[in-house]
Amino acid sequence: MSTRTVITGTGHYLPSKVVTNFDLEKKMNTSDEWIRQRSGIVERHHAEAGVGSSDLAYEAALKAIESARIEKSEIDFIIAATLSPDHYFPGIGVIVQAKLGLYGIGALDVRNQCSGFIYALSVADQYIRTHTYHKILLVAAEVQSSNLDYSDQGRDMAVLFGDGGGAVILEPNNNDDGRGILSTHLFSDGRFIHDLWMEKPSPKDRPTFSVELFTANKFFPKMDGRNVFINAVEKMPEAVLAGLKHNSLAIDDVDLLIPHQANDRISQMVAKRLQIPL
Ligand SMILES: CC(C)(COP(=O)(O)OP(=O)(O)OC[C@H]1O[C@@H](n2cnc3c(N)ncnc32)[C@H](O)[C@@H]1OP(=O)(O)O)[C@@H](O)C(=O)NCCC(=O)NCCS
Repeated sequence: MSTRTVITGTGHYLPSKVVTNFDLEKKMNTSDEWIRQRSGIVERHHAEAGVGSSDLAYEAALKAIESARIEKSEIDFIIAATLSPDHYFPGIGVIVQAKLGLYGIGALDVRNQCSGFIYALSVADQYIRTHTYHKILLVAAEVQSSNLDYSDQGRDMAVLFGDGGGAVILEPNNNDDGRGILSTHLFSDGRFIHDLWMEKPSPKDRPTFSVELFTANKFFPKMDGRNVFINAVEKMPEAVLAGLKHNSLAIDDVDLLIPHQANDRISQMVAKRLQIPL
């Protein structure tokens, strides 16, 4: 009898403030048409000042716990994925833990940016399969809107990114009924870190924070959208095919593919390359 990890509850939370493409047109030289055509995005949510990724993660966690029909006290481990923690350190895992009042249980932070949830899911899967933990709360949340460049210089990123949180409860399934995570396949390529990164602040600098770095706009994230796009549409299908092959499955066996990101043009290209309908 083999143990597999199943998602028994899901929850998500979005801050209430909606920012449409037309709202962004007032801030920078962009247009609803440009954004829609290239990303499919019509609107995004922005958190108010004072709200951090731990707050969004906490709200999402409450919904996931309710959806899984468990008591929060049953949770024995927390994994949190974010690139926008409330603080430089510690991560948000312990903050969510404290908000839930689950003092003392382990809380791990995962820093894998857009693919943070998927990496965190793979970590949780190992803990569940090895019977280390039995009810894991996995949260993934971002507050990106507070540090985007809303001038024309940063418009490529500012129109794509927003704020939100998601959470799942993960439990073992020992029933041998085929349900659960079959395998996980993770890839990365450190040669391309400059294509999407926030270079500063960096502890390599003395001092880490300076007026010079600030006025040089060094504290904003930067993206080479074209390279990110090319890599995404190449690598996502490769990862899907690797997962299928490992499990002796074919693309026709798949009913639904859920991409880890919201850029519709990337999803369209991935669907085309995998020869699956949108
Ligand atoms: C960013 C992205 C939408 C740009 O699309 P693109 O097809 O490469 O862009 P195009 O070649 O059509 O247009 C580039 C031009 O639009 C301009 N532009 C950039 N952002 C713009 C905006 N928000 N509004 C209007 N014009 C914009 C650029 O300055 C550039 O102008 P130039 O040609 O005068 O230099 C696209 O590269 C992309 O989706 N990349 C992936 C990004 C992503 O998903 N990141 C998250 C990954 S998790």
